[in-house]
Amino acid sequence: MPANEGPVQTRSGAAVPERRHTGRVTEHDRWFEEIAEFLGPAYLRNAFTKGTEQEVDHLIGALGLHPPMRVLDVGCGPGRHSLALARRGFDVVGVDQSEEFLRLARDAAAAEGLTCTFEQVDVRDLRAGAGHDAVLCLCQGGFGLLGGRDETDVFARIAAAVAPGGRLAVSAFSAAFAVRFLEEGETFDPATGVLHEISVVRGPTGDEREFDLWTTCFTGRELELLARASGLVVQSIAGVAPGRYGSDPPTVDHPELLLLARRPEGLPAR
Ligand SMILES: C[S@@+](CC[C@H](N)C(=O)[O-])C[C@H]1O[C@@H](n2cnc3c(N)ncnc32)[C@H](O)[C@@H]1O
Repeated sequence: MPANEGPVQTRSGAAVPERRHTGRVTEHDRWFEEIAEFLGPAYLRNAFTKGTEQEVDHLIGALGLHPPMRVLDVGCGPGRHSLALARRGFDVVGVDQSEEFLRLARDAAAAEGLTCTFEQVDVRDLRAGAGHDAVLCLCQGGFGLLGGRDETDVFARIAAAVAPGGRLAVSAFSAAFAVRFLEEGETFDPATGVLHEISVVRGPTGDEREFDLWTTCFTGRELELLARASGLVVQSIAGVAPGRYGSDPPTVDHPELLLLARRPEGLPAR
């Protein structure tokens, strides 16, 4: 189970609005924006954000990346992976729907004189162009927060940004883990793979609000099928946890799955 001491008291790292939906996300497509707005810099106090360096080092090694490759960070949040890669000399673009998180990312980049850029994009409208040597979508970076409806289309959009010969890394919350460790008050919808929970979120000044979280969970098989349908070759699907990225085969005790894939040379996106 991911460590979650911090402002977002949740197992998955995702978070939500004060209106009380239970079950499926119905009318509120951009529900995470309210959480991001409320959290602001407090997001980076969460324990699940503390393993950024390990995660980036693992991805660079496992995907065979080297600067100054072009990297797209989808659902970049306040830019922790983007910034870590930019410090290592990569040419990074981060995209996210949250203006508040993008502001934090831009401020951090400016403070360090990093040249990475950040753009406001809803992943459902992503049209990034197929010129990226690597595309990352980590820690429910948009892809795992879509209510179980738009994931297939969004995965295809993310995959389409991978250049021929380029690499993809997507982390996703594990459906097996979610069901195995389902806690009181949580519901898991087998039809959509969405885990619903209500979490107390602590803002930057210590004030607390309750939010609903809807995290779309996956099996390794689903990730493999999505990758193959987008013309990618699966390199590996590992069982991981925040700050503990590695190559172990998934078990039901791993909270997250890490898909690594590549687009074959000479084959543009479908
Ligand atoms: C749990 S955070 C992860 C952020 C970052 N990848 C990280 O590892 O810290 C999920 C991110 O997904 C973004 N997000 C949620 N829905 C999105 C959407 N439809 N389009 C773009 N970004 C979205 C949120 O704004 C948030 O920054």
